[in-house]
Amino acid sequence: MVLPMYMLHDYMEDRDGELFIDGMAVAEAAERFGTPLYLYSEKRMRENYRRIHRAFSSRRRNFKVNFAVKANNNLTTLNILRSEGSGADCSCPAEIMLAKMAGFRDDRLLYSGNYNSDAELRYGLESGAIVNLDDGPLLARMLKFGRPEVISFRINPGRGQGKYEGLVFAGPDAKFGMMEEEALKAYRFARDSGIGRFGLHMMSGSNVLDPEYFPAITERLMEIASNIASELKISFDFIDIGGGFGVPYQPEERELPIEEVASAVVDSYEEKTGGALGDPTLFIEPGRYLVCDAGILLARVTHVKRAQKTFVGCDAGMNTLLRPALYGAYHEIVPAQRLGDDRTLGANVTGQICENSDIMGRDRHLPDLDEGDLLAFMNCGAYGYSMASNYNTRVMPAEAFIAGGRLQLTRERETMTDFLRRQIVPPELMRDAQ
Ligand SMILES: Cc1ncc(COP(=O)(O)O)c(C=O)c1O
Repeated sequence: MVLPMYMLHDYMEDRDGELFIDGMAVAEAAERFGTPLYLYSEKRMRENYRRIHRAFSSRRRNFKVNFAVKANNNLTTLNILRSEGSGADCSCPAEIMLAKMAGFRDDRLLYSGNYNSDAELRYGLESGAIVNLDDGPLLARMLKFGRPEVISFRINPGRGQGKYEGLVFAGPDAKFGMMEEEALKAYRFARDSGIGRFGLHMMSGSNVLDPEYFPAITERLMEIASNIASELKISFDFIDIGGGFGVPYQPEERELPIEEVASAVVDSYEEKTGGALGDPTLFIEPGRYLVCDAGILLARVTHVKRAQKTFVGCDAGMNTLLRPALYGAYHEIVPAQRLGDDRTLGANVTGQICENSDIMGRDRHLPDLDEGDLLAFMNCGAYGYSMASNYNTRVMPAEAFIAGGRLQLTRERETMTDFLRRQIVPPELMRDAQ
């Protein structure tokens, strides 16, 4: 059987069977910092930002990118994207704090939460971020603490699209946003409460590779926006079409033609601007597109079980990278120092977690691996570390960058001391059994 080549990105190299990124052997990072390790390329993040920014800004002057912090909450990532000119889309107060720590100016922060508590609404208001509310009645609750200068609401445009069911964020079953009728009530209440400036937002789905989806859903959003603007005689400072720009994870998937998408989206957008809507700034808030293919996860093989099937166990599991267990997501897995070896093994790659859903890849063709071999999981820069957990009492992994031509540790591996720091055992429960 002729197997397809491993799916490496064009900024990666196979040097005599060894995986190199930006001129560095990834094995060196694993040696220095241990595994499991998230390793990112500064260069690739910057290229991703510039590509999508250029595609839109060359067609529309009034345009801004706000990185979705939930995709990758490493402070180095945030500093890199801030220095490129990005704003930050934050899902909770902690992400607002992180973004501020990374130097984002208050007026470049967007707070798009959902099902907020009073304390969160108050923090959002006082933080200086533009608050984007997921439901009309949240505004009345926020007004107890003060009146924001600008308010935005999240619209459910009636349909959404996403690579997995869990990544469809709009439509009749979605927990997010408001349908047009409710949104109209929310903006009316905001206007009548004395708020004078408005934004409008949607986030209808994630990891979409269909270029036609973006202009179609933008057209729908703009219809809703112009209905609201003309009914209430308000205009919008910005309209945010969300993120969702997909990245190929599987060999058969094709890259999103971002120039074509930007051109069609701007056309849909500008068909409705001017007139009642004014000239709102077009916002996008990509997460995955900026960071996904800039990161890999490195793991060591811990044991190979040759049973009814072959299982390659490694030190990264669903606790380290949740996406395969959560969505059935595919991540290409490559043997980082044996790229040229014959792929004689057909195996399921698994972590060390006590769940049968802890399968990182099924029926993968790999060389005859041994304990200690290094695996690299591709496309782990988005929703990798930020979704990791302590399940099965595993400590959180480390993160490193290849930045400025050097390997740099940017988040230490958690230790058991860190893990235990917040635990308090009532003294009377520490006695031995009688
Ligand atoms: C409100 C909001 N904005 C932006 C994003 C980023 O999405 P993506 O990574 O698909 O671009 C998300 C992802 O869940 C989100 O919930």
